[in-house]
Amino acid sequence: MNKALLIALLGITGSLTLVSCSKSRGNNTGIEYAPDMYYAKGYEPFQEKDSNKFNKFGSNMREPVKGTVAIGKLDYHYDLDNNGEGYEASASRNFPSDFTFDFAKGKRLYGIYCAVCHGAEGKNDGSVFQRVSAIKPPWSGYQDEYIKALSAGKIFHVVTYGKNNMGSHASVLTPSERWQVVAYVKELSGSSVNTSTPSTQTVSDSTNLETN
Ligand code: HEC
Repeated sequence: MNKALLIALLGITGSLTLVSCSKSRGNNTGIEYAPDMYYAKGYEPFQEKDSNKFNKFGSNMREPVKGTVAIGKLDYHYDLDNNGEGYEASASRNFPSDFTFDFAKGKRLYGIYCAVCHGAEGKNDGSVFQRVSAIKPPWSGYQDEYIKALSAGKIFHVVTYGKNNMGSHASVLTPSERWQVVAYVKELSGSSVNTSTPSTQTVSDSTNLETN
């Protein structure tokens, strides 16, 4: 065989072999060079590559002990359920004992999350209600007797879980931000912000937890 042809054939076979080996498609990752670069040797919390034979469900991460609350997160724990009974029970809740109303903050958060429907002054004239008037609440605005009489706890409950056409705001407002918004709604309604009867579930409980 001619020498040049032999070299050419060897070259073609060699590159074909290389290409076919490193090809990754479907479930085949192809050849991995230095897999230690991709997969940590240690047990990573979210890694599920190798099932962990010591822990339940083969996961690396342990479940927290039942009832565990992360430090400083107690006020995220809201014990009332998203149902009729929870809503009624929320009537007895009030602002946390160490709550102080930050007017500017309440106004700012209200402007971001609520005014689009309820309007800047709480007159139910936000752009959404103007366009889709069918979803407007039965009461005219926050100045209505219904909202004036509505307890802070119920407003907090509704902001947390939503009600009919109003969605939950739990993912966008922290519990303390929700209380600020509640106070601002009370302010718009003209009823005073009554923080004298603290809620049974107080933010200061979480402070105790931290120091214990
Ligand atoms: C998408 C529009 C929309 C947004 C945004 C919205 N709401 Fe509402 N809200 C509604 C509707 C609709 C109702 C009437 C619910 C019902 O009673 O059927 C309502 C009801 C309420 C009530 C009365 C609750 C009750 O117990 O009857 C309060 C108070 C309230 N909203 C406050 C807020 C606050 C505070 C925010 C911002 C964090 C907010 N809303 C954001 C649409 C909205």
